Amino acid sequence: MVQSTIPSTFACRSTRPEEAEVDVLFIPVFEHDDRLTDLPGLDEASGGEISRARSTGEFRAKLYDVFVTPVTGTGWKARRLALVGAGDPVDADAERLRRVAATCGYVARRRWATSIGWMVRRGLDGLRAAQCAADGLSAAEFDAGVYKQAGDPGGAFPATVEIVAPDVDPAALRDAVRRGRVLGESANFARALSNEPGNVLTPREFAARVSSMASSVGLGVEVLDDRKIKELGMGLLLAVAQGSAEPPRVIVLRHEPAGAPASPVLGLVGKGITFDSGGISIKPADGMERMKDDMAGGAAVAAALRALSVLEAPCRVIGIIPTTENMPGGRATRPGDVVRGASGKTVEVINTDAEGRLILGDALWYAQELGATHLVDVATLTGAVMVALGRTVSGLFGTPSNWVDTVRNAALLAGDRVWPLPIYEEAREQLRSEIADLINSAGRPGGAVTAAAFLREFVGDRPWAHLDIAGTAWAESAEPYQPKGATGVAVRVLTELGLTAGRRDPARPS
Ligand code: BES
Ligand code: MN
Ligand code: ZN
Repeated sequence: MVQSTIPSTFACRSTRPEEAEVDVLFIPVFEHDDRLTDLPGLDEASGGEISRARSTGEFRAKLYDVFVTPVTGTGWKARRLALVGAGDPVDADAERLRRVAATCGYVARRRWATSIGWMVRRGLDGLRAAQCAADGLSAAEFDAGVYKQAGDPGGAFPATVEIVAPDVDPAALRDAVRRGRVLGESANFARALSNEPGNVLTPREFAARVSSMASSVGLGVEVLDDRKIKELGMGLLLAVAQGSAEPPRVIVLRHEPAGAPASPVLGLVGKGITFDSGGISIKPADGMERMKDDMAGGAAVAAALRALSVLEAPCRVIGIIPTTENMPGGRATRPGDVVRGASGKTVEVINTDAEGRLILGDALWYAQELGATHLVDVATLTGAVMVALGRTVSGLFGTPSNWVDTVRNAALLAGDRVWPLPIYEEAREQLRSEIADLINSAGRPGGAVTAAAFLREFVGDRPWAHLDIAGTAWAESAEPYQPKGATGVAVRVLTELGLTAGRRDPARPS
């Protein structure tokens, strides 16, 4: 395993771009009418190469296109300039900007650039753009091939990164860059966990890794073992775990900054299935290997708490990650079994592959026991959400609507794409059992909705939102901005929520 041991330094400056003394200076360029008027002298610095490439069509600013050219003129301290296509400016949301920056990070890596700069263009919200740039560039530091023994001969991440933003207040810029850097690093922590194979990242190993992260950033951490889980009566979690040779765990993280108000207490709950075979209702072999990432929601919760602790968010946050395997075996739960959760509700298990909602039911109950006033859960919960929304948007559910709106706005700002889906009363009726309080699976129609309706049964009257990230947690193919594998989705929206939730009652209209 070869890993860089020297972490890169992220700096920023509020001066002119000419002053950036870097190996490669990246400049995002939007399609259509981007005349680069905020960068006088740029074309001259390139010896006219930029205007040439634009007029011949070699560089059209198409999304993720990169054009690199040396600095030949005087007055600019960068060695090379790199224009990167940022696409249509109307689509320039936080996620887009972050991906454009990540693309540049990978380009820099492949070119062995030792230092790079990133130009925050005029006309954007300078602080948000700087944050997205630092975040996206950090994403390119991520290594997917951790079990390859030859190292990565394809390049190295630059040792220094400089965010250049001429018209932005220096102190605010420093904060924004730091925030982006912490978000990027935290998302990479989540991605590394989700990419780990099921034989390595067992529930106990998941708990150990999250615990050591927690200690290193000053989070409170407690890991409930199978005895304690039994004592609490978490029969839904135990029903999923009983088919596995690996014991379950519940990871509890606490961010309790001195002087934070007693309320709100944000409760973040993440699904932590370290491998989902489906259990007795076993999945088809094709693509089953991907089910090692069925703990991506749990990883996102752990990573968000990391970010909130490092950034000293002024709000109480509890993270709860129920973690287990879902395996078939002689002791496994059978379809038709009836089990009782910690909340007292009984569930007839129709399909053992609908296991996420079972472990989340107990975890949502526990979050409330521990005093969470506002809940958000994140889970790779249903294939159905992928049918509904595809692979680029997460499903958002919840109640009441102003809390759902709060989460939606945080997602928009943070650059995690979400879209709301409804839970009408009829969905609850589909969960009726002949023999118990609920069944755990209502079949194919509206599968993401009935799963959310099931979770709602374990939420009292507290504001609750649910993010179904089954479509967004995993990239099936490499993109210019990320390798195949875990994406780190939801880390940013959860962090954004924690950073802003303390400011006012987040579920009350302002
Ligand atoms: N972990 C899966 C959901 C999933 C599917 C995530 C594909 C990522 C990609 C979940 O536990 C599951 O198996 N859900 C079932 C529910 C069904 C049995 C009601 C599904 O979606 O098929
Ligand atoms: Mn399943
Ligand atoms: Zn699952």
